[in-house]
Amino acid sequence: MTQWQKSDWRNKPRIQMPDYLDAAELNAVESRLSSYPPLIFAGEARRLRDKLAAVSRGDAFLLQGGDCAESFAEFKADNIRDTFKVMLQMAMVLTYGAKVPVVKVGRMAGQMAKPRSAPTETVDGVELPSYRGDIINGFDFDAASRIPDPKRMEQAYLQAAATLNLLRAFSTGGFADMHKVHAWTLGFTQGDNAGKYHEMAQRISDTLDFMDAAGIRDEANNTVETVDFYTSHEALLLEYEEALCRLDSTSGHWVAGSGHMIWIGDRTRQPDGAHVEFCKGVQNPIGLKCGPSMTTGHLKSLMAALNPDNEAGRLTLIARFGAGSVGEHLPRLVKAVQEEGANVVWTCDAMHGNTIKAASGYKTRPFESVLREVREFFGVHNAEGTIPGGVHFEMTGQDVTECTGGVRAVTDENLSDRYHTACDPRLNASQSLELAFLVSEELSARRESVHKAAAV
Ligand code: PEP
Ligand code: CO
Repeated sequence: MTQWQKSDWRNKPRIQMPDYLDAAELNAVESRLSSYPPLIFAGEARRLRDKLAAVSRGDAFLLQGGDCAESFAEFKADNIRDTFKVMLQMAMVLTYGAKVPVVKVGRMAGQMAKPRSAPTETVDGVELPSYRGDIINGFDFDAASRIPDPKRMEQAYLQAAATLNLLRAFSTGGFADMHKVHAWTLGFTQGDNAGKYHEMAQRISDTLDFMDAAGIRDEANNTVETVDFYTSHEALLLEYEEALCRLDSTSGHWVAGSGHMIWIGDRTRQPDGAHVEFCKGVQNPIGLKCGPSMTTGHLKSLMAALNPDNEAGRLTLIARFGAGSVGEHLPRLVKAVQEEGANVVWTCDAMHGNTIKAASGYKTRPFESVLREVREFFGVHNAEGTIPGGVHFEMTGQDVTECTGGVRAVTDENLSDRYHTACDPRLNASQSLELAFLVSEELSARRESVHKAAAV
């Protein structure tokens, strides 16, 4: 067998990628990007893989979340900080319920290319190419903006680098110190969940005070003062991925330098397609979206292609069926995994199967459907005796009105108030926290039933 090359995807059918008009300009951008430093290092990707291996055994839980599409316009320190804060809060709530470590992975620092259900969109009789994310073309509805521009890849790279730099500073520079558990709340989160959060935070603070006083903390390892935070995005724009792909000198294997974890979208997971070909050859943890059209045969061939050595932590299956449809699809895929004896992480994307168009014309997701899909996901794993390893959300620390429902009851009429997403509707900070409490309850109920079963 010939060795995998980072350009091999070019010989495979490619879909959902732009046709750049100026080949010389594209080549120039690719060659500059190829000479820039990678954003992440292979050792970090391997460490995340080890953590995901723990998730696959039920010894940790995966929290993956962030923007549907990061945009150039919303690139601000406050936005990054607030999303990070909400992720820390959610992780705290989950750790408290699950009593296992939470692996935190942002849809951040590179989540900028979008697959679309239609190649064009029509507004008031004018038809233009669809917006495909800021790394490819512009959001504004005019012909010039919608032309794919390779220079955007460099802008995206710089934005990802600066975002990651800030995330690294927040993770280790004192901001994420567990003693600050009270300080991660955002001014506008109110209602039941803020109260519940403060109560939990108080108990955590008391415990930390006790541990400090009794001298039983592992200060050498900074386990309380810092967090591990990883980045992820859909590896859709393969010119960009190839340009940042590097040979890791310590292992001799290739690594995608664009982010710690990359995933393959539900529209681009053809076993013989370009996206699977690229992901096959890099050592990063790989996510695979599994929507209703995923057959058991496809899943088996994708597992064989993407994880031929059956390494735990390499492959995360991201179920996204939609509330009411989980029972129809997840059990057959869970059985296919078991038949193969495959090591995978199962996680639940409760967003992408629940998108609807509101009467006002806005794309939205009812919070109730998101909650219901999470419950159904846990229900199937509890029934099958398999491990619900994590959750995957589109969320933001901003006080947006993009998904309806939640304790603060966003209605169809409210959607226009603060609808800022560049693509799909995200949970706001308050809805994210509410969801974390639900997942935490599911996890602690599971723990109790496992303990009971062990006791008899
Ligand atoms: C996404 O995660 O933003 C996305 C487009 O998901 P999917 O591929 O599952 O539709
Ligand atoms: Co999305």
